Amino acid sequence: MTSVSPASAAGRFTFPGTDISVNRMGFGAMQLAGPHVFGEPKDPDECRAVLREALALGIDHIDTSDFYGPYVTNRLIAETLHPYPDNLTLVTKIGAWRDDEGGWNLNHEPDFLRRSVEDNLERLKLDRIAIVNLRMGSVNGFSEDGEIAEPMKAMRQMQEEGMIAHIGISTVTAPQVKIAQDIAPIVCVQNHYNLIHRDDDAMIDSLAEQGIAYVPYFPLGGFLPYQADILDQVASELDASIQKVSLAWLLQRSPNILVIPGTSSRAHLRDNIAAAELTLGEEHLKRLDAIAA
Ligand SMILES: NC(=O)c1ccc[n+]([C@@H]2O[C@H](COP(=O)([O-])OP(=O)(O)OC[C@H]3O[C@@H](n4cnc5c(N)ncnc54)[C@H](OP(=O)(O)O)[C@@H]3O)[C@@H](O)[C@H]2O)c1
Repeated sequence: MTSVSPASAAGRFTFPGTDISVNRMGFGAMQLAGPHVFGEPKDPDECRAVLREALALGIDHIDTSDFYGPYVTNRLIAETLHPYPDNLTLVTKIGAWRDDEGGWNLNHEPDFLRRSVEDNLERLKLDRIAIVNLRMGSVNGFSEDGEIAEPMKAMRQMQEEGMIAHIGISTVTAPQVKIAQDIAPIVCVQNHYNLIHRDDDAMIDSLAEQGIAYVPYFPLGGFLPYQADILDQVASELDASIQKVSLAWLLQRSPNILVIPGTSSRAHLRDNIAAAELTLGEEHLKRLDAIAA
């Protein structure tokens, strides 16, 4: 008898040029840190229980970073899940740091990126990180399409040295994706996208043609959960939560979309993973598509 895990119901995805396959339903660890992603969680036992249950339900792709807490989510992951099962893919991100007040700051200097990878390796107890996202972003005067080249060369160097197996990029524009691809193969792009915020529609289609994963962050609206009457109506008709419908919509939007919803509660984790089993019909999809039209 074969057992099918709930997280596998939406199918699997293989990152291009790699032997890494994951369920399209994944987990984002950011919500495991304290309020505003700063400091210790209110309920560390529940966070550890969320991580254990995620794996029990078939999650094999966890997104994290040393700047969640900082260091809190990586520490929780390592102390709860290490030694890791062979099929678990941990994806981290570098390029930012937190100040004492919890502020978010970017740093793309090669030395800083190298130190960040070393720190992630140590905290996650790994010899090599499967995928590291270079977190760009447009704050602090960064222009759109120039500055990714130098940090990408540093990523490439660390890949050649074996510290990083594969490279992703985050909070990037289409021109930046092209510049990055000229320097090293890119296996995933992690940008802000959800049912309401669809600036990246063309990028998703272009990446799909190349077999590259698109991993939307804030799939449920992130710090500002969104509201839409149509979403409420569809969810009520399906007797589902708006979060479950939102994730099902993302999974049906494109086969290269991998979802990493974040939660610090097992009840929400179960609800989110159940979205992998929800197939939206054409009429519901049409109404949901119209929300951002
Ligand atoms: N690359 C980047 O710059 C970047 C930026 C942001 C995030 N990320 C990654 O993307 C992942 C997902 O983003 P996110 O966690 O910020 O936002 P999100 O998944 O859009 O939303 C998380 C919020 O929704 C709540 N929630 C989750 N499931 C729910 C459910 N079933 N019912 C009701 N509420 C629910 C969570 O609260 P509870 O804890 O109470 O469930 C939390 O407040 C992160 O964990 C992180 O790994 C990357």
